[in-house]
Amino acid sequence: MSTLDMVRDVLRRDEVFDLLKPDINPNLEVSKDIILYMEDVSVSFDGFKAINDLNLYINDGELRCIIGPNGAGKTTMMDIITGRTKPDSGTVYFGQTMNLLRMTEPEISNAGIGRKFQKPTIFENHTVFENLELSMKGDKGVWATLFATLTGEQRDTIDQVLERIGLLEKAILPAGLLSHGQKQWLEIGMLLMQRPRLLLVDEPVAGMTHQEMEKTGELLTSLAGEHSVVVVEHDMDFVRSIARKVTVLHQGRVLSEGTMDEVQNDERVIEVYLGA
Ligand SMILES: Nc1ncnc2c1ncn2[C@@H]1O[C@H](COP(=O)(O)OP(=O)(O)O)[C@@H](O)[C@H]1O
Ligand SMILES: [Mg+2]
Repeated sequence: MSTLDMVRDVLRRDEVFDLLKPDINPNLEVSKDIILYMEDVSVSFDGFKAINDLNLYINDGELRCIIGPNGAGKTTMMDIITGRTKPDSGTVYFGQTMNLLRMTEPEISNAGIGRKFQKPTIFENHTVFENLELSMKGDKGVWATLFATLTGEQRDTIDQVLERIGLLEKAILPAGLLSHGQKQWLEIGMLLMQRPRLLLVDEPVAGMTHQEMEKTGELLTSLAGEHSVVVVEHDMDFVRSIARKVTVLHQGRVLSEGTMDEVQNDERVIEVYLGA
């Protein structure tokens, strides 16, 4: 039996700990079932209101899709949640008690909010395995990390991520040799290494083949439940295939919210998408 087969065998056993579960943050209070609150949030850039009295609530464990035309404020919304942009007004809470507007970007990330940017930021010359190793929490720089000995649990965590993102067979391949879709999965894997509770994913299927899209959909839906996942995406077929609840953003605020069928039949949404 090869090592890979042994790893697979172990991973298939139900009693195995799932090392991908989000880190427990004792400060996160979700007894009201809402993991993210954004209320009356506004931000202007040179007088232009990119986010305009935005109200958004994400339930614990849900998979939410956010759609909306270019310039609707989707990326700015993620910038606000992750602390990259501070709004002019409004409140943003992680759970009931953590005021994200009083926290720095690293503090927010440590609290359990992970973000995947549109452009992959993998290390092309390092192997897939090393890329995951480098994204472990508490890393001490590239050299220290690569020369440190992994604990059994760290190794198992990486193996579980590899299995989850479907790249177990590619573990020792330089990441630069992966297909575009595989690079996106690796990046989601790097995010999972941080064990976030809330994942923000910006346009995950741009440029993917149909088959890659399908696998991405399976990956993201499999994460919901344990994690809360917010996906910004343009591809409507993809959104339809994974969405439970969809939020349509327009001019920095929520235009419509509901199932895919509900928002697609909403006249305000039709007007924004067709009337432009
Ligand atoms: N740092 C910034 N400075 C000036 N304008 C910005 C900045 N970030 C975003 N904007 C503007 O805010 C609007 C919303 O942008 P964005 O959030 O990127 O929209 P989306 O991701 O929905 O396409 C756009 O008109 C954009 O030009
Ligand atoms: Mg954007």
